[in-house]
Amino acid sequence: MADATKLALLDNGPIIIEGTFKIYMADGSEVMLEGTKAALCRCGGSSNKPFCDGTHKKIAFTTVVTPSGEVKEGE
Ligand code: FES
Repeated sequence: MADATKLALLDNGPIIIEGTFKIYMADGSEVMLEGTKAALCRCGGSSNKPFCDGTHKKIAFTTVVTPSGEVKEGE
């Protein structure tokens, strides 16, 4: 799977997408972004959703992905 798109959940931060992707509007009618790298907000604080704008640092968003893949937020 050399061409697989990679999603990485960063500790205390966004989801990084690397690889060819398309992000569609909620109704699927239109492509919002087509690219090869993006950071998606998962703290809920971004003023530029669905993208990360760095607000997670200001609001001290905490989340950790354990080696088993469990996501622990707010600890
Ligand atoms: S994860 Fe960065 S602003 Fe939400």
